[in-house]
Amino acid sequence: MNQYISENQNRFVDELLDMLRIPSVSADAKFKQDVIRTAEFVKQKLEEAGADQVELCETAGYPVVYGEKIIDPALPTVLVYGHYDVQPADPYELWASPPFEPVVKDGKIYARGACDDKGQMYMHIKAFEVMMRNNSLPCNVRFMIEGEEEIGSVNLGTFVKENKERLKGDVIVISDTSMLGNETPSITTGLRGLSYVEVEVTGPNRDLHSGMYGGAVANPINILCQMIASLHDENNHITIPGFYDNVQELSSEEREEMARAPFNLQKYKQALDLGDVHGEAGYSTMERTSIRPTLDVNGIWGGYTGEGAKTVIASKAYAKISMRLVPNQTADEITAKFQKHFENIAPASVKVVVKPHHGGEPVVTPTNSVAYQAAAKAYEATFGVKPVPVRSGGSIPIVAMFKSELGLDSVLMGFGLDSDAIHSPNESFGLFNFMKGIETIPLFYQHFTEMSR
Ligand code: BES
Ligand code: MN
Ligand code: MN
Repeated sequence: MNQYISENQNRFVDELLDMLRIPSVSADAKFKQDVIRTAEFVKQKLEEAGADQVELCETAGYPVVYGEKIIDPALPTVLVYGHYDVQPADPYELWASPPFEPVVKDGKIYARGACDDKGQMYMHIKAFEVMMRNNSLPCNVRFMIEGEEEIGSVNLGTFVKENKERLKGDVIVISDTSMLGNETPSITTGLRGLSYVEVEVTGPNRDLHSGMYGGAVANPINILCQMIASLHDENNHITIPGFYDNVQELSSEEREEMARAPFNLQKYKQALDLGDVHGEAGYSTMERTSIRPTLDVNGIWGGYTGEGAKTVIASKAYAKISMRLVPNQTADEITAKFQKHFENIAPASVKVVVKPHHGGEPVVTPTNSVAYQAAAKAYEATFGVKPVPVRSGGSIPIVAMFKSELGLDSVLMGFGLDSDAIHSPNESFGLFNFMKGIETIPLFYQHFTEMSR
């Protein structure tokens, strides 16, 4: 590790802990001031690290933090993307320590956002600081840190479209994904897209006594459960007509290649306390979470859920449903197919409303690009082994737009682990991972600059 990093390691961690104390939950308006305070924190840290033109760029939602260091327009430019917003921390009672009072325990930082994405985003600001202080920044860099990723990057598309000049560069670098393990580093080469909908099923026009009316009117909760259950068949294929029409099937060579990535089903089940895995027939667990589309209920509610019993047939039942998409499905296409199908299968005894939320398109990133090769070299130097390319199941909606609007590929240099429990209680990020990121990123800049010549 270079001297500047080892001498400043404790301060780097302390600064991250300071940022983690600000509850920047973008989904919940009650944290609005905190989200904005976090943007200001990021701005200040970029300035302190030595960035120029640092600015909070207003959008229709939360601001994008921009900063740059242009040392020579003739040199390549790396664009760094990350997000300073976090997922809600609920349910709070399942946290061993409060989500916004970070603690360091057994070599890990525990807090909401520790990994996703404050910890991983901050590695880039500190890596930049290291290069500035060591006089070793080999190329230009622009930072674009947003505050709405966890709510679908709803305003970032407009920002990108309106700032094409300022966002000129050669590659986008993002640390917002995970690796297979600390001994088996990996670089993410694909992200799934997303279609997210909310459904409302209405039965009778008011809640009813379940004895007086039970058996004679549609119970919207029962009906909703039946409708949802019918969305998968006995092979766990999704039954929405046309759902798989545009799905890109992988060749058997590509699937064999994927199967070579290290994966231990026994350990996977153990880590999640599962008796068995579950998924689409004919596909491995790795395939089910990367190259295949899915449909999952994320929340379902209605009726009486308080203490004790209440004999009632609810008037309404609700569910939130996500569909993860793969190339060449599109969010609009799948949302429309879902809506049509869900309305079609509703019996006449209920009314159904489908409300689309945000979406995002799937992406696959090349492994033969200069950027991927430079990233692979950097990981190999710091981890001692070549990283494995792995397609991931998660979504980062803006990545497809970077390609379509700016013509730029992204290189997904994640340093988290699946066991970091992002979006869950007790989210964590290893100090090892945080420091490895800060060490690896400058090497990427170096290789990318040299290899771009
Ligand atoms: N960092 C995640 C995405 C991710 C996690 C990708 C792990 C690969 C591996 C990101 O913050 C996220 O949670 N994205 C959301 C999408 C968004 C529209 C809410 C997701 O995937 O659910
Ligand atoms: Mn993230
Ligand atoms: Mn997330």
